[in-house]
Amino acid sequence: MTLLSPLGSPTMSERERDEGPGKLPFRSAVVPAAGLGTRFLPTTKAVPKELLPVVDTPGIELVAAEAAEAGAEQLLIVSSPGKDSVAAYFAESPELEKELAERGKEELVAKVRRAHELIAVRTVTQDEPRGLGHAVGCARPAIGPDEQAFAVLLPDDLVLPTGVLTTMAQVRERYGGSVLCAFDVPREATAAYGVFQVEDTDDDDVKRVRGMVEKPAPDEAPSTFAAAGRYLLDRAVFDALDRIEPGAGGELQLTDAIALLIDEGHPVHVVVHRGGHHDLGNPAGYVRAYVDFALADPDIGPDLRAWLAARLES
Ligand code: UTP
Repeated sequence: MTLLSPLGSPTMSERERDEGPGKLPFRSAVVPAAGLGTRFLPTTKAVPKELLPVVDTPGIELVAAEAAEAGAEQLLIVSSPGKDSVAAYFAESPELEKELAERGKEELVAKVRRAHELIAVRTVTQDEPRGLGHAVGCARPAIGPDEQAFAVLLPDDLVLPTGVLTTMAQVRERYGGSVLCAFDVPREATAAYGVFQVEDTDDDDVKRVRGMVEKPAPDEAPSTFAAAGRYLLDRAVFDALDRIEPGAGGELQLTDAIALLIDEGHPVHVVVHRGGHHDLGNPAGYVRAYVDFALADPDIGPDLRAWLAARLES
């Protein structure tokens, strides 16, 4: 049994026993995918935005691969009653595989198998889109009572190169509590993001979080560190989710639960990711990601580059 500190989070020695040095502090990765995807209407009437391809692979498979690479053992997809195709995407397709194998298309067989071979996938249902915080709360019954922390990856956010979850795990090992991920954005861009109010630590890329402001004007932003869709959350967040009221848009906001934990003294740190980033959640960001991945593809990249250059000149 794990003893809890007064704040509800395990103390350092308790964590060392449960998670141990060198042991990954999470086994489950939650992927909320039950939103309405209104920014992609009309397509999302029939196709979940999480299945839109980036060249040929859906964003949700890219984040599943990231979670598996970080050592997660189970992917908990939060889905909604109308989005069964998200779970179906991770199921085996023996007939398709057999057909492709008979045609000698071994490369395609490998592509088809990849999603279900990456990681064990379970789905949990969010009956109504009541917000990201509510979606994360829906995963609670599927997370083992011994799991003191779990990861959350937003499938419309690509954080590149992958690997930030491993750094976030190291930060939890050092400080305990919950660990978030941020990008350093230009000050003039802060109004598009949730922005952290932070204090320095002895590491330039790790900050202690004191608060968060949604979409601040550049002159009011407490920093230029903007929230990215990766979280390593202490299970204390479930209790906080039970205690918050609906916030912006009448939804249960994950950031409100994290703010409550901060107010109660729970350590929350942020890892500043100095890499690339794509927002697949809106058409403009999606097109950029698509072009970026296509340019990097050895089969289609060179032709696309030449076509784009000619297109931009014309
Ligand atoms: P978004 O706000 O980007 O997704 O939530 P959305 O609500 O589907 O998109 P728009 O704004 O209508 O275009 C981030 C992630 O959280 C999930 C979404 O599926 C997305 O992957 N989410 C959001 C849920 O699972 N449940 C919710 O109630 C809200």
